[in-house]
Amino acid sequence: MNADQLKEAERVYLINCGICHGAKLDGNGPLWKDGDGPYPSKPAQLVGDAKYEAMPEGQMFYSITYGKNLMGSYASQLTPKQRWEVITYIKTKQGKK
Ligand code: HEC
Repeated sequence: MNADQLKEAERVYLINCGICHGAKLDGNGPLWKDGDGPYPSKPAQLVGDAKYEAMPEGQMFYSITYGKNLMGSYASQLTPKQRWEVITYIKTKQGKK
C-alpha cells in the first residue's frame, strides 16, 4: 500500500476498531480502559502480543468478517477491500510489512 492508502486504512481502523483495540493497537481503547470501560471483554492486543503478531492475515479476515466471541462481525461496515486494508495497516504497525 502507498502512504495515502495506509492513511485511509488508519482512518477506517480508528473509526471502527480503535474504540476497543486502541489507537495504538494495544487492546486498550476507550471502551475497555484497563477494565474500567463499559465493554465486558478485553479486546485483542494487536500490537505487542505474540499471538496476534503471528496471526495469519486470513484468520484475521475471517474473524473481522464473521466476528469472534464478543467481537461482532464487521462485514456490513467494511467492504472486503477495506477489511484487507485494515489488516495490512495492523501488520504494518506490527512491523510485519
Ligand atoms: C466492541 C469492541 C471491538 C471492536 C469495535 C472491534 N473488536 Fe476486534 N476484538 C474484540 C475482542 C473482545 C476480541 C477478542 C475476541 C476473543 O478472542 O474472545 C477481538 C479480537 C480481534 C482479533 C483477533 C481475532 C481472532 O481470531 O482471535 C482481530 C484481528 C480483531 N479483533 C480486529 C478488529 C478490527 C480490524 C476491528 C475493526 C474493523 C475490530 N477488531 C473491532 C473487540 C472489538
